[in-house]
Amino acid sequence: MKKLILTTLLLSSASTAFAHDSVIRAGHLLDVESGTYATDQYIVIEDGKITDVGNWSRLDTSDDYIDLSDKYVLPGLLDSHVHLTGDSKVHGYKRLTRSVPRQAITGVRNAKRTLDAGFTTVRNLGAAGYADIALRDAINDGDVPGPRILAAGPSLGITGGHCDNNLLPAEYKAKADGVADGPWALRAKVRENKKYGADLIKFCATGGVLSKGTDVGAQQFSFEEMKAIVDEAHLAGMKVAAHAHGAKGIETAIKAGVDSIEHSSFITDAGIRQAKAKGVYLSMDVYNSDYILSEGEKAGMLEESLNKERVVGKIQRESFKRAVNAGAKMAFGSDAAVYPHGQNGHQFAYMVRWGMTPLQSIQAATINNADLFGWSEKVGTIETGKFADIIAVDEDPLENIEIMKTVSFVMKGGDIHKD
Ligand code: ARG
Repeated sequence: MKKLILTTLLLSSASTAFAHDSVIRAGHLLDVESGTYATDQYIVIEDGKITDVGNWSRLDTSDDYIDLSDKYVLPGLLDSHVHLTGDSKVHGYKRLTRSVPRQAITGVRNAKRTLDAGFTTVRNLGAAGYADIALRDAINDGDVPGPRILAAGPSLGITGGHCDNNLLPAEYKAKADGVADGPWALRAKVRENKKYGADLIKFCATGGVLSKGTDVGAQQFSFEEMKAIVDEAHLAGMKVAAHAHGAKGIETAIKAGVDSIEHSSFITDAGIRQAKAKGVYLSMDVYNSDYILSEGEKAGMLEESLNKERVVGKIQRESFKRAVNAGAKMAFGSDAAVYPHGQNGHQFAYMVRWGMTPLQSIQAATINNADLFGWSEKVGTIETGKFADIIAVDEDPLENIEIMKTVSFVMKGGDIHKD
């Protein structure tokens, strides 16, 4: 990584010279809020943060700069739903061969791939053995490259539910880390996750596609249990993400006060209205289905899961369209690990195909997710005071959203990760 030291005059008339860590020259700088481009801009970066943005012509002298003058420059992207320690080639019974330390090492590989793809901040919604928290800390310590991570630790779930491990017969007594039943046991689980470093809480409010013996339409946890999780998490200053496909589980989770619904597949119009009324984000992994149906069998997904997906995928995309048209708050959540990490950007074109404008899909992955993460002050736009998390693509994404699959420049916290 090259560090540039340069002397610039911020105003042509000014006489004071400033030393900067680095300066980017951006040919087309996208304001993700308005969808307009400012041409030929400078971005000044100091101590990992953006300290000034303006017209290149106003920058008097510059010994050296990062030349993105022929590129389309955007804020670093955010994904609200990934599992960095999971592997897209390891599903179904194959998962039983992966120890927690092995998963952590998989996470190191996937963190780099995610950052390579232009995703500079992610929420990791569930990992065994707190491997996601170790990964977050290792990245923050500079030991390995990766995005900023808000980590959930183990997902909370009912006995035998989507967030449990249901693959083995009873005599093995297999149980996932986050399984508990009853409000007080769940409050204790929330406290435990907090104790070991979780930034937020994830729980399973319905069955799922990739778990054994669960019904995607069936609610998991009673209202009282969900309420206990949400209250306890909010007391501790943590947001709550609920995995929910079925309509009843979605509506119960919204009523319990969650901050986002993950998947949202069978959401009804009433559910969309409730989400809007409470400001709940819908995070819908609309890319996933194609990958599951084409590659899932090879990766070990159960026949039962493939059958569930044949129903869920199509309905989820139709629900996505309804939610977009109704003006619901939409997050960009991809559930990477189901599909290969690093392909996160493939989801933009799917979001556009299913009802968003290109700008809306980019807003979902920037300002909307920043709001959902509670990080609007830090990330999501290219503005003074925010982290210098900046990406570039070679073509106008508002004209060709597919270009979001191939991000050509990535800076995180002022450090060039990919050039
Ligand atoms: N982790 C989710 C589950 O197992 C993946 C759902 C993927 N399918 C979809 N259509 N988005 O339920």
